[in-house]
Amino acid sequence: MENLVQQLEQYKNEIAAYEANTAAAVEAYRIKYLGTKGIVKAVMGEMKNVPNDQKKSFGLLLNEFRQIAEAKYETLKAALTGNQTEPAETFDSTLPGDVYPLGSRHPISIVRKNIIDIFHRLGFAVAEGPEIEDDWHNFGAMNLPADHPARDMQDTFYINKNPDWLLRTHTSSVQARVMEKQKPPIRVICPGRVYRNETISARAHCFFHQVEGLCIDDNVSFADLKQTLYFFVQEMFGKTVKIRFRPSYFPFTEPSAEMDISCLICGGDGCNVCKHTGWVEILGSGMVHPRVLENFGIDSNKYTGFAFGMGMERICQLKYRVNDLRLYSQNDVRFLKQFTSAR
Ligand code: PHE
Repeated sequence: MENLVQQLEQYKNEIAAYEANTAAAVEAYRIKYLGTKGIVKAVMGEMKNVPNDQKKSFGLLLNEFRQIAEAKYETLKAALTGNQTEPAETFDSTLPGDVYPLGSRHPISIVRKNIIDIFHRLGFAVAEGPEIEDDWHNFGAMNLPADHPARDMQDTFYINKNPDWLLRTHTSSVQARVMEKQKPPIRVICPGRVYRNETISARAHCFFHQVEGLCIDDNVSFADLKQTLYFFVQEMFGKTVKIRFRPSYFPFTEPSAEMDISCLICGGDGCNVCKHTGWVEILGSGMVHPRVLENFGIDSNKYTGFAFGMGMERICQLKYRVNDLRLYSQNDVRFLKQFTSAR
């Protein structure tokens, strides 16, 4: 029996020194001491060899040993899950809260808002429409019949499920929807995202943002178009900026013109941005083609109108000197945070 007592002491020392940092080591402990073929079971089995008069005191010893072995197992398990060492969670309600960084408006949103504000002052309302359009609203009604060569300038993405559906190439489609519902006088601007099938580079992207405008009433003339756009440019870029019109072609306007502004960077002296011409193009415009008016049942003998369309990215580029179109959609905070102070 002396041997058994000594043996138990040795086991107790081993148990006290046992370390287990992994679940596998804890499980190995369990199997070794508490398993069906483990040490606790084995020493318990020794009871049958203990003389009757010593059974009681040995029973107490063995029970104590089993409890030590089991308690150690619980300790090892708890240490593993961190229950024992983790301090109780503290919450101090008097500490200041976490600071969440404030976001900022996207430069395109800033420019969009500026443009809308300026045209609001001239009595233009904002109209919006779907980005997935049908052929008629985007092309047909705008005097761009199927196979018209001018469609090449606005190649887009078509929807397999229905070849009549496409991603709008300009927000003229919204003007179409306005003319469908509303009779003159009409004065709207149509801001929104448009799509074109272009290879992405610093100067072209498969989507961009436009603001188009439409004004239809009695006696609307090219002078009104000119004055409206001149007002816009001066409000947007400052009173010293000059404008010029160049004859152009759009199927939905006649006559048509592209408008340039004097270069903001060099003041007209010539630089890289204006390609040494002193002028930069900012929009297309013209008098609404009579056929477009008639497409919507508007009497072209009674009413005339002007329309224009500009890219917001272009305005933004000139206002903030952004030289790569891709920056607008890369979501890089180093670019975006530069606009935190802009309104
Ligand atoms: N819809 C033309 C474009 O996207 C812009 C434009 C609008 C030109 C209105 C003239 C008049 O290119």
